Amino acid sequence: MKYKLSTLVGATAVAIGLIAGPAMAEDAGIIVYNAQHESLAKEWAEGFTKETGIKVTLRNGGDSDFSNQIVAEGTASPADVFLTENSPAMVLVESAGLFAPVDADTMAQVPQDYQAASGKWVGVAARSTVFAYNTTKLKTDQLPKSLLDLADPSWKGRWAASPSGADFQAIVSALLQLKGQAATADWLKAMKTNFTAYKGNSTVMKAVNAGEIEGGVIYHYYYFGDQAKTGENSKNVALHYFKNQDPGAFVSVSGGGVLASSKHPKEAQAFLKFVTGKGGQEVLKNGTSFEYAVGKGAESNPKLVPLVDLQAPKVDATTLNSKKVTDLMTAAGLL
Ligand SMILES: [Fe+2]
Repeated sequence: MKYKLSTLVGATAVAIGLIAGPAMAEDAGIIVYNAQHESLAKEWAEGFTKETGIKVTLRNGGDSDFSNQIVAEGTASPADVFLTENSPAMVLVESAGLFAPVDADTMAQVPQDYQAASGKWVGVAARSTVFAYNTTKLKTDQLPKSLLDLADPSWKGRWAASPSGADFQAIVSALLQLKGQAATADWLKAMKTNFTAYKGNSTVMKAVNAGEIEGGVIYHYYYFGDQAKTGENSKNVALHYFKNQDPGAFVSVSGGGVLASSKHPKEAQAFLKFVTGKGGQEVLKNGTSFEYAVGKGAESNPKLVPLVDLQAPKVDATTLNSKKVTDLMTAAGLL
């Protein structure tokens, strides 16, 4: 029954499309392949629709799935906009030549450090790498000074991560850019020996909170998000920021781009302008995502350690390599 119904709906939609022509395209609004957290993208979409009347359909998935899907679909992709959690997925789509240039006035809303020099995608938010640790298990003087320390045999069996996730893979891509292939391969090999794998950063934090493991490498907002709710999965957790331009102080840029094949380029560009502008960036300050705002003059949630105080290493987000990272992680037995 379900199959028949969807066939019928599909046929009806095609029929209306044929009759209504261009008007139908406008009413349909834009399709966003969204790899950012669903709740954040939903707030952006609703704010944009409220301001412009343009409808947004969100299709939710992950960074690597969607970037590979877009490349596979090529110019036939139904997506108008692609939003990611991390930059490597943007780089993959850009390398395939599938992005249109982002409008100059949108690029002008974001500092150069948070956009592609090519003009093909723009930063929409940012997140910091942290070492989330159990405060009953670790004292501050026992914390790792560097992400690289976690490869030391003394850390065997004591830390966790979610290697299958795009968040952790972005951290590895930064490590690769900063320290090179040989050092990264060595670190990943040691990681395989030392760490415990969990699926998802929230699960890592839960395990840390429960004392199953002493600490984990995740992004900062998982902690703040939980604290803003009941705090039940983070009451025994504190965040350690590596700072000092350490690879573990990597700040990852979430990106937005307009597909060159978009049938609604004006509306798609307007969406990115909204997300990087006052309305979209205020969602980051006032909403529940706890990610950093990146727009010029935009403020982040006051509960966060200010972005400028994170002493993040200088990483070129536009050359982060997702393929090399998954190859190295596969070779190390992590994927
Ligand atoms: Fe995430």
